[in-house]
Amino acid sequence: MSNAFAREPSWDPRRFPPAPRAPRAVQTLRMLYDPQGYGLALREQLGPVFSLRAHPYRAALVCAADLGANREVLTDHERFVGGHGAALLRPAVGAGSLICTPPPRHLRHRKLLLPPFHGERVTRWAERMRELVRAGLPDLLTGDGVAVRPWAQRLALDVILRVVFGLTDPGRVAVFRRALTAFVAMDNVAVLFLPRPLQRDLGPLSPGGRFARLRATVRDLTRTEIALRRAESGSTGGAGRVGGTAGRGGGVAGRSARPGRAARDDVLSMLLDARDEHGAGLDDEQVLDELTGLLLAGYETTATTIAWTLHLLAHHPAERDALIADLDAGSDRLLKATVRESGRLRPAVYYAIRTAARDTELAGRPVPRHAFVAALFPPVHLDRRLWPQPHAFRPARHLDADPAAYSLTPFGGGVRRCIGVPLAQLEVETVLREVLARAVPAPAGPPEPARLLSVTLVPARGARVRFHRRLRPGGR
Ligand code: HEM
Repeated sequence: MSNAFAREPSWDPRRFPPAPRAPRAVQTLRMLYDPQGYGLALREQLGPVFSLRAHPYRAALVCAADLGANREVLTDHERFVGGHGAALLRPAVGAGSLICTPPPRHLRHRKLLLPPFHGERVTRWAERMRELVRAGLPDLLTGDGVAVRPWAQRLALDVILRVVFGLTDPGRVAVFRRALTAFVAMDNVAVLFLPRPLQRDLGPLSPGGRFARLRATVRDLTRTEIALRRAESGSTGGAGRVGGTAGRGGGVAGRSARPGRAARDDVLSMLLDARDEHGAGLDDEQVLDELTGLLLAGYETTATTIAWTLHLLAHHPAERDALIADLDAGSDRLLKATVRESGRLRPAVYYAIRTAARDTELAGRPVPRHAFVAALFPPVHLDRRLWPQPHAFRPARHLDADPAAYSLTPFGGGVRRCIGVPLAQLEVETVLREVLARAVPAPAGPPEPARLLSVTLVPARGARVRFHRRLRPGGR
């Protein structure tokens, strides 16, 4: 596997922002077990920009932890560049995925990928989404305590298989589901965080070997699907390769070259047809990398957001009952505010990552060229200067006020802001509507603390909730 950290500068306290004194292992463990508390404590102790000397970073992760520093990292694309920072994921998604693509190719790619995720287009998936949610409800509404996150992971995977991969045949869905579930499971992807020698393929029983085989299975299946889809439509993949020799500079229209093939509305079909203004499309390997990237970017994140939101509602009966009443009255104002508040208090993603393009400064602290730089979301989302009573779950705070720019960034920001926002919002809102029309979430244990799993902020025990069936279900 490739070495994601080859360019990282070595540690030198004079060239990096201040770091905690604790040993690396202690910093790593505190980050894993109390990511929100530790982030706030380090800002208090070291200021708005500090170095975290934690695994898997060999030198340090430079952390921006207040509004001004975060805004700078997310918006100054000349100094803080996206793409290289996600190199850790490269063995999983492939170098061609949007997430791993640095500028200037990033912008061209992004324009090809954006159209299927456009807000209005996404609503055409609403009915399919509702069907998938309804099919899963019996497993959630058992009357016993249920861990919502694994439930939501199954749902999120099925949504991606239908709307991104465009699979409809139940047999093929089952084959993909099995392969992808094993591939994206944390015990598999965790290999990317091991020291490099342990990532090697040392046979089927080694973590690296298992990862390589699961990856090959997923890629073979996806390749076959792409070939089938191309055969179905007679599509050849375009005259050139985006990011290759076809065309230079200028914008990419992201338009479809084959408007006649409108019957399929999934992301894969749209990607196969997408062309830039020079007629260049994505070749099969690029499409393959994009699909894998979309899967990894969209699966854990959406499932974790659903889990946190239902868990928070279960533990806040007044806010839960107000939301149910508002939905019953046919409004979605409180629904949107609730999802925002959940994304503030428990953002599924802990940070957005960039690398420094040159030796520079952030909030007056030195940052060496090629250092990994993260905009941490929780210290800003929980900053009392921005959010009164920051630790309270109060959806109503969003009703009549738009947040200050970059004070609420669960989807990141700038030119690399999440492209899946409309899809994710549709999915989270659909689950909440369907569940709350039939059941009332209640605690199935104490409120769960957040843990850090790779870059995801997950509930410690899977977000356990007990759902009580409503005597008079809401009529949605
Ligand atoms: C609630 C669910 C989701 C959350 C919280 C979330 C969050 C994020 C965050 C924080 C980033 C990094 C942004 C940055 O670097 O500034 C990101 C990037 C991205 N997300 Fe999402 N995401 C979600 C769902 C999805 C879905 C459903 C998809 C697609 C199926 C998706 C596709 C992507 C892609 C492709 C990128 C990379 C964008 C780029 O580098 O230009 N995400 N997401």
